[in-house]
Amino acid sequence: MSRLVIVSNRVPLPDEDGNLPAGGLAVALHAALKKRGDGLWMGWSGKVREAAPTDHLDEKQIDGITYALTDLSESDYDEYYAGFANRVLWPIFHGRLDLAEYARKEMSGYFRVNRLFADLLTPRLKDDDLVWIHDYHLIPLAEELRRRGVTCRIGFFLHIPWPPSDILIAMPVYERVLRALCAYDVIGFQTDLDLANFEECLRRENVGGQVEERIFRAYDRMFVAGAFPISIETAEFAQLAEVADTGDELVESTKNSLVGKHLIIGVDRLDYSKGITHRIEAYEQLLIDHPERRGNISFLQVTPKSRSDVPEYMAMQKKVAELIGRVNGSLGTADWVPTRYINQSLGRSALAGLYRFAKVGLVTPLKDGMNLVAKEYVASQDPADPGVLVLSRFAGAARELKGALLVNPYDTEMTARTIEQALSMPLGERRERWRAMMDHLLVHDVNHWCEDFLATLTSEKPGQRSEDYLLDPT
Ligand code: F6P
Repeated sequence: MSRLVIVSNRVPLPDEDGNLPAGGLAVALHAALKKRGDGLWMGWSGKVREAAPTDHLDEKQIDGITYALTDLSESDYDEYYAGFANRVLWPIFHGRLDLAEYARKEMSGYFRVNRLFADLLTPRLKDDDLVWIHDYHLIPLAEELRRRGVTCRIGFFLHIPWPPSDILIAMPVYERVLRALCAYDVIGFQTDLDLANFEECLRRENVGGQVEERIFRAYDRMFVAGAFPISIETAEFAQLAEVADTGDELVESTKNSLVGKHLIIGVDRLDYSKGITHRIEAYEQLLIDHPERRGNISFLQVTPKSRSDVPEYMAMQKKVAELIGRVNGSLGTADWVPTRYINQSLGRSALAGLYRFAKVGLVTPLKDGMNLVAKEYVASQDPADPGVLVLSRFAGAARELKGALLVNPYDTEMTARTIEQALSMPLGERRERWRAMMDHLLVHDVNHWCEDFLATLTSEKPGQRSEDYLLDPT
C-alpha cells in the first residue's frame, strides 16, 4: 500500500499525551495515515516569526506519523494567510464579492508560500506516494510540485464552496487559480452543486469540461473530479452525547438553569459566512411574532472568535455583540435573558450534551461548504425524543440532510416561522425526520468520506500530464 502524505495549512498535532485534537476530521485522517504506514503530514506550525527559515521542515515523530512543519514569516502570514487566502479566496468562494480586498502583493505572497511548501516537500516525496492536499490555502501546490518533477498521484479536497463562474471571474487572478486546480489527479468538492459550478467555470472559459462520468479534461490534462461530502464520526459522537446527557457538568448546570424552558442552540466560528446576525434577527422576529414564547425559550449562541486580525472579522465581532445587546435589552426581562452569547469554544462532550438537550439546532449560514455542526446536532439527538434541525439551504449539508427544515436565512420572517414550526413539531414527525438523517449519517460518516476519496485517488488513472506543468512559466 502506498504511503499517504497529507498537506494542509494547519496541522492537528497530538498533545504531549498523544491525544488528538477534537474533531472527526483529524481522527479520520490520522487513521488513514497510520493504516498506510509511515505517514507524513506537512503544514504550517502555527508560529509566525519575523523571518522564518525556508530551507528545512521541523520534524516530529508521534505514534508512527511524521509531522513536518514550517513556521511562516510575518510577511508570509500577512499576505498568504490573513491576506489572499482569507481576504480574497474566502469571501469570493463564499459569494461575498463585497468583502474581497484584492491586493497584488497578497496574491504574490500566496503563490510564494505555495512555492515554499513545494520546495520543502519535494525532496521528501517518493514516486509511489499518495499526496492529499487540503483546502483553499494550497490550490497551487500540485502545479508547483509538478514543476519540480514530482510524478506521484496528487489529490485535492476543497473544504469550502466552489463559486459560480460570475463570482469566480470577478477575482482578478481567477485564471491562475482555475488552471492550478486542474493540475491535480483527483479534485474533491463538498457537493454536486460545487462540482457543477466548477464545470461551468471550465466551459465558460472554454478551457475544458466533463468528458465522461467523473472524468474531466481541461488545460490539456485529464483528471477526476467529484463530490465527496465530508462528515463526522457519527456513532462516536452519538455515544459522546448520550454520556454527556447525564455526565457532563456544564450540560448539567445549563439544564438546571433552564428548567421549564426550551433551548435553541447555534454553534459557529465568528465568521460572516455563518449568518449569525441574520439568525439573531430571525430569533428576535420569533419573539415579536410569538410573545407567548417569551420567558419559555432560550437561545444559546456559542461563537469562538476566529481570524481576529482580519479586519472584516473584527468588524463582525462588534456587530454581533451590538445586536445581541439590542435583543436582550429590548425583549429581556429582569428574570429572563432571551439570548446567551459566548465567545469561547466548548469541549466536545459539553457541545454534544447541549446539542442533545436543545429542542432546536439552528444552522443557518449564508454559505457553507458543508457545516459539520448540522451533522453533529443530528448525531447527538435522543432517538426517543429528538430535536429539530433548522438548516440553511445554502449549507452543503442541506444536500444530504433531507429531514431538516430548510430555510433561506435572508428571509427573516420565514426563518422565524420555521423556528416556531420546529418548536411545535409533534414527536412522531420529529422521530421520522431524525431517523432518516441519522441512518444516512451512520453510513456516510467521516471514515466513509476518507476511504472514498483515497480509493478514488488510488484507483483512477492519473492525469495525462501536459509538458506545460514541467516548465516554469512564472
Ligand atoms: O472551513 C475551512 C477552514 O479552513 C477549516 O478547515 C478550519 O477548521 C476553519 O476554516 C478555521 O479556519 P482557520 O484555520 O483560518 O482558523
